[in-house]
Amino acid sequence: MAEALWWQRGVIYQIYPRSFQDSNADGIGDLAGIRQRLDYLWGLGVDAVWISPVYPSPMADFGYDIADYCDIDPIFGRLGDFDRLLAEVHARGLKLILDFVPNHTSEQHPWFLESRSSRQNPKRDWYIWRDPAPDGGPPNNWLANFGGSGWTFDGATGQYYYHAFLQQQPDLNWRNPEVRKAMYDVLRFWLDRGVDGFRVDVLWLLIKDEQFRDNPPNPAWQPHQAAIERLVQRYSADRPEVHAVVAEMRAVLDTYADRVLIGEIYLPLKWLVAYYGKGMNEAHLPFNFQLILTAWEAQAIARIVADYEAALPPGGWPNWVLGNHDQKRIASRIGRPQARVAAMLLLTLRGTPTLYYGDELGLENVAIPADRVQDPWEKNEPGLGLGRDPARTPMPWDASQNAGFTAGFPWLPLNPDHTTRNVASLAADPHSILSLYRRLIALRRDRATLHSGNYVASHTEGDVMTFERRHDQEPTLLVALNLGGSLQRVALPDDAKEARVLLSTELDRDGEVVRAGFDVRPAEGIILEISQT
Ligand code: NOJ
Ligand code: CA
Repeated sequence: MAEALWWQRGVIYQIYPRSFQDSNADGIGDLAGIRQRLDYLWGLGVDAVWISPVYPSPMADFGYDIADYCDIDPIFGRLGDFDRLLAEVHARGLKLILDFVPNHTSEQHPWFLESRSSRQNPKRDWYIWRDPAPDGGPPNNWLANFGGSGWTFDGATGQYYYHAFLQQQPDLNWRNPEVRKAMYDVLRFWLDRGVDGFRVDVLWLLIKDEQFRDNPPNPAWQPHQAAIERLVQRYSADRPEVHAVVAEMRAVLDTYADRVLIGEIYLPLKWLVAYYGKGMNEAHLPFNFQLILTAWEAQAIARIVADYEAALPPGGWPNWVLGNHDQKRIASRIGRPQARVAAMLLLTLRGTPTLYYGDELGLENVAIPADRVQDPWEKNEPGLGLGRDPARTPMPWDASQNAGFTAGFPWLPLNPDHTTRNVASLAADPHSILSLYRRLIALRRDRATLHSGNYVASHTEGDVMTFERRHDQEPTLLVALNLGGSLQRVALPDDAKEARVLLSTELDRDGEVVRAGFDVRPAEGIILEISQT
C-alpha cells in the first residue's frame, strides 16, 4: 500500500475560534488563546487544526461574513498573531487549515460597496444583481438559508441582489472571471504564508442556474423544518458548472506541495462523490456528513458505511465527520454512553476523521437563555431548534472561574457541568471520554491498519455493528460496536484462532484474550487484534 499523505493518515480537529480560549478577557476566544492551548492538541494526538473564519467581519454570521479576505479581525488578533500561531503549529509537527468562504462576502466588503454603488460600476457584475419580477417582487422564488427570501431589494439602483444566507452576506458571481481570479489570489495569499489547506464553505452553492429558474416545492417539507426546506434547491445549488470552479481551486493548491482542499458539501452520496472530480482533480476531501445525518442504529450506520465505500470513485480518499459548529452536539443527539461508541466508530472507520472541539469531552448542547442568543438563524426563525449556539459554547479547560476559558464574561454560556466536565478533570480520570479519545487517536496513529488499511464489513446483528480493518503487513483488527442498551454476544470470524482486546470504550479490558466469541456490553465498543488460525 502506498505511503499515506498527512491528510489521509491524520486526524483533523475543528476549532471554533470564538470559543476555544480567550487571551485578553473580552469573553471571546482569539488566536493568542489557541496558541496557548497547542500543547493540549499535541497531547490529544491530532494532526491538523481547522479554524473557522478569523478574517475581518461585522460578525453578522460570526465570521462567515467576510469584509477582507487577507487580514485578521481585531477580535482575534493581527496578522502577526496568525503568523506566530502558524509557526508554533508547525513547530509541533501539526498542520493548519483555514476556512475559505468563497460563496459570499460581507455586505461591508469593499467589493460589494462598489458593486452596489451604481449599475455602471466595474464590480457590479461581481455579485448577483437582477431586475425585479414584473410585479416588482423578487426575481424568482429562491429562499435564504436563514429565513426569508434569498433576494434583497436595493432601492438606490432598483435591482435585487441574491444571498443564499443573510442579506448581510451577498453572493459573489462565480461566473465572472475577475471574481475567480481575485479569489484564487486570496488562496495564494494564505498558501504563501504557509497554511496547509482550506475547508471551503458551501462549496456546492457557488454556481447558480444561468436562467435563474424557480426552485420546485418540496412535498416532504414539515412546519417544524427550516423555511428554506419548503423548496428543493435544484437551481440554486449543485449546478454542473460548479465542478470547473472546484477544479480551478484545486489547480491553485496543486502548485504548492502537500496542501489539502476540503469541501463543505451537504448532498446525497451520488452527487457528493462527484466533488472528487473526474480524474481526482477537485476536492481531496468532500466532507462526508453521513454520520451526522443518519439515525444512530446499527443497521442504518452499517448501511451508510457500505454505501459510502461503494460510492467512492477509484482514488477517492474517504472521510468522516461527527459534528461541527452547525450541528447538534453528538453527545446530546445520541446520549452520553453512545458518544463513546461514536468516538470509536469515527476513529476506526477508513478515512480521515474530523473531530469537533469539545466532543472529546462529551460536551452536550448547552441551553441558551433567550437574552443570550447570538446565532442569527435562531433570531430569524426562533423556537424551531435551528439555532447553533448550543454547540458553540466555550471550551471548559479546568474548574476555575469560567472554566479557564476567559477572565471576562463569556460570549456564550459555559456548559452547566463545567466544574467537572472540563479538560483538567477528565484528563486526570483514566476512564473518561477524553482518555478514550486519546487512546483511540494514539492507536489509530500507531496502527497502519487503522489509518490506511481496508474496510471489510462483517455481518451486523441486532444492535451490534461489526467490521474488520485489514492491512497486508499487519494483523487484522475487528471492531464491534454495541449501539443498543443490552449485552450481546459476538462470534469471532471462522478463520480466527483467538483475539486480544486492544481497547474497549470502557477502558477496562486491555489485553483480554477471547476465543470463539465475546460479550459486548451495552453501549460498549471493542477493538480486537485477531490471530489467524
Ligand atoms: C456554512 C457554515 O458552516 C455556517 O456556519 C455558515 O453560517 C454558512 N455556511 C454561511 O457561510
Ligand atoms: Ca479575546
